[in-house]
Amino acid sequence: MSSLLEALNKGILTSSTEETIAIGEQLAKALAPDTSLALYGDLGVGKTTFVKGIAKGLNIEKPITSPTFNLFSIYKGEKQLVHLDAYRLSPEQSVESLMIDDFLKSPYLCVIEWPDNVPELIDANTLKLQLSIQTNSTEHFIQAIQNSTA
Ligand SMILES: Nc1ncnc2c1ncn2[C@@H]1O[C@H](COP(=O)(O)OP(=O)(O)OP(=O)(O)O)[C@@H](O)[C@H]1O
Ligand SMILES: [Mg+2]
Repeated sequence: MSSLLEALNKGILTSSTEETIAIGEQLAKALAPDTSLALYGDLGVGKTTFVKGIAKGLNIEKPITSPTFNLFSIYKGEKQLVHLDAYRLSPEQSVESLMIDDFLKSPYLCVIEWPDNVPELIDANTLKLQLSIQTNSTEHFIQAIQNSTA
């Protein structure tokens, strides 16, 4: 296991957006093929900021913005980054209608915000990260959630 994943298992505190971006950047380079990424955490904890770091690690130059109407965006890079923001996914809208299944494996890297809204997409190949803001602190915290099967 890479030292970054070991550090994420313990949890990493970041005190600036740049630090969060730097971790995403390193993780993008360390992720095994066919792995996708689920970013858990409340509004404003830094999920999209982390995706910016992932994009940087994949040498994607196009700026990352939160997908709105289309729910997900694809960016061309060393891997094709699929950024899914499931926040606005309505209960009537099935995951199948997104036709995103093919994006869960190489050469795509799928990164999911609000993964609780798309449980169908989360499996043993999903690295789960919990993001949070420390109480009484400006620091943000990123920690890997252990797979119960791991
Ligand atoms: N250490 C930090 N890491 C990440 N973001 C930070 C940090 N410190 C401050 N911020 C700020 O917190 C905000 C995080 O916003 P971001 O859009 O990344 O959150 P989000 O989790 O994607 O929110 P949403 O649920 O609305 O999509 C940004 O304004 C960012 O500048
Ligand atoms: Mg976001």
